[in-house]
Amino acid sequence: MRVIALHILDLIENSVRAESGRVHLILKDSKDKKTFILKDNGKGMNEEELKTVLDPFYTTKKKKKIGLGIPLTRQSILQCNGIFNIESKKGTGTTITLTYPKKNIDCPPTGDILRTISTSIIAHPTIDFLLSFQEEENILVDTTFLNPEERKALKIKDLYEYISEAFVEIDWNGF
Ligand SMILES: Nc1ncnc2c1ncn2[C@@H]1O[C@H](COP(=O)(O)OP(=O)(O)OP(=O)(O)O)[C@@H](O)[C@H]1O
Ligand SMILES: [Mg+2]
Repeated sequence: MRVIALHILDLIENSVRAESGRVHLILKDSKDKKTFILKDNGKGMNEEELKTVLDPFYTTKKKKKIGLGIPLTRQSILQCNGIFNIESKKGTGTTITLTYPKKNIDCPPTGDILRTISTSIIAHPTIDFLLSFQEEENILVDTTFLNPEERKALKIKDLYEYISEAFVEIDWNGF
């Protein structure tokens, strides 16, 4: 069983490949479910692309014939009776919502979301990353405040520590 943080890492890579300038991850926790919303402002998909995106034999990557990121993520949700939702608009962006029922025995562990976020921030210095908790407006991490030089100079260890502190403030329980 793969941890959710790794699925999110895959989804962030999709957003990057779709030429997003901004990627926003919103974490929501409640008694019964954990929800992960990923919003990007990349090139988006039309209806036909959206329909085929859930099919593992569909991909727009040139060399590879099968795309597995979304089907695997979706499978991890469906196996525990969760909800996978994807909304996309050509030229505007894509929003993917993963909802996992916490009490289902097949619900995968969340994993190291902190590492997923810090790795993505370091790997893609030209993209703005935002992280919110419970409400979209409740922003914990926002790289738009850093100038490009500051972004490039960021060290993963310092970033990880910085995000950890933000997580302590919200009483993060790891979901
Ligand atoms: N956020 C997004 N914005 C625009 N298009 C997307 C986005 N996410 C996925 N897609 C489209 O859906 C296709 C399938 O995505 P999926 O992650 O399943 O496979 P992949 O990225 O092609 O390959 P893999 O994830 O296995 O490396 C992508 O090739 C891309 O065309
Ligand atoms: Mg992918």
